[in-house]
Amino acid sequence: MPAVVVVGTQWGDEGKGKATDHLGSDVDIVVKFNGGNNAGHTVVVDGEKYALHLLPAGILSKGVTPIIGNGVVIDLEVLFEEIDALEARGMDTSALRISADAHIIPSYNRLLDRTSEKFLGKRQLGTTGRGIGPTYADKMNRIGIRVQDLFDESILRQKVEGALLNKNHLFTKVFNKPKVDVDEVTRELLSYADRVKPMVVDGSLLANNALDEGKTVLFEAGQATMLDIDHGTYPFVTSSNPTAGGACTGSGVGPTRIDAVVGVSKAYTTRVGEGPFPTELFGAEGDELRERGGEFGVTTGRPRRCGWFDAVVSRYASRINGLTDLVVTKLDVLTGYQQIPVCVAYEVDGQRVDEMPLDQTAFHHAKPIYEMLPGWSEDITGVRSFDDLPEAARRYIERLEELSKCRVSVIGVGPGRDEVIVRHQFDL
Ligand code: GDP
Ligand code: IMO
Ligand code: MG
Repeated sequence: MPAVVVVGTQWGDEGKGKATDHLGSDVDIVVKFNGGNNAGHTVVVDGEKYALHLLPAGILSKGVTPIIGNGVVIDLEVLFEEIDALEARGMDTSALRISADAHIIPSYNRLLDRTSEKFLGKRQLGTTGRGIGPTYADKMNRIGIRVQDLFDESILRQKVEGALLNKNHLFTKVFNKPKVDVDEVTRELLSYADRVKPMVVDGSLLANNALDEGKTVLFEAGQATMLDIDHGTYPFVTSSNPTAGGACTGSGVGPTRIDAVVGVSKAYTTRVGEGPFPTELFGAEGDELRERGGEFGVTTGRPRRCGWFDAVVSRYASRINGLTDLVVTKLDVLTGYQQIPVCVAYEVDGQRVDEMPLDQTAFHHAKPIYEMLPGWSEDITGVRSFDDLPEAARRYIERLEELSKCRVSVIGVGPGRDEVIVRHQFDL
């Protein structure tokens, strides 16, 4: 099974980093295909915690070539900060490769992201403020700056000038900010060129050649299905396609080459930022789940909104991504609840709805219909085989599987690389 896509099935932070890392030892290439340093993927190896933002989780596994694909947007300052921090901890990052077609997040787009959020006031989206939205907008508007532009100073200056034509009007006349200087931005970007150059490749060629040679390529998503620009809870989404289709456009590998699509899901649900979230828990109940799960953002440190497992979302993610397998993480966090509610459908304006409502207004009004499942009290963090789980925990997983219409192949029972139960081995 040489080409495997790993995606989030909820609103992010499902444990994609850990899932990718878990598969890492059997993989030759890990391509990150979307997003940028809005992502925060935590991987715990031998008790050491690594927080990755821009780098693919494959960077932590020996013998893996990590590629930042063309679908990613790169903040060069953050890239090198992350590389230097890993090197300082004794990790070898020399295998990292970057697609020549990936777009760069210039400093003015960080400014634009933060300023436009402020101007939106009550309507703000709660973005990470990393310049993600404006950089994808520039890509679509065809005024983006790509990695390959760093190697031709005159082209780079022209492109920066072009991008700033409209933006400087916006900064000075609407946002009351100083004009952004073309030379300064160009100089700043050029300062990274020599360091970036040896890493730059045709990412599509590298990944396809590897597949031709029978090697295994893993495609790692940032964000998640419900944050997808097309299929998520628009406008409370990110600006890329974190769903399985994005793995193809964001890497230059065709859909006929993909063998498996693995969805990562928490055993409950979390969300950061604004937007609808039907199973959200408030007050003491929400605080309890947040404390148990340590649900604070890796990127912004914001407390994550917490709620019960939503099987409508999970079924939707199975369909949108064509999932072949589910990885359910953080089952250990639910230990100690007497009963665990699982949302099986919604009630919208007095009607039962079993699938994702057609329009956003209905989703905003959706009230969860819960089924109560029995909990368990035994510590499960040391369990490594499905049969050794308490009966209620097995039933919980089997019910999630039934409701999600996708088999659960791996279960997370702790943050560590090996704290997993493998039910169905991926045939890598
Ligand atoms: P990602 O963005 O999808 O990679 O997920 P994050 O790293 O942002 O958030 C997932 C958090 O859950 C991290 O702190 C992980 O270390 C942690 N984690 C992952 N799997 C498990 C698990 O099975 N049990 C527990 N207790 N923690 C887990
Ligand atoms: P990982 O990869 C959770 C959310 C932000 C905000 C919305 C738009 O760690 O799962 P953006 O800065 O992308 O324009 O913000 O998307 N968001 C995430 N939430 N996990 C992430 O990444 C996220 N990346 C973006 O909080 O609501
Ligand atoms: Mg995260």
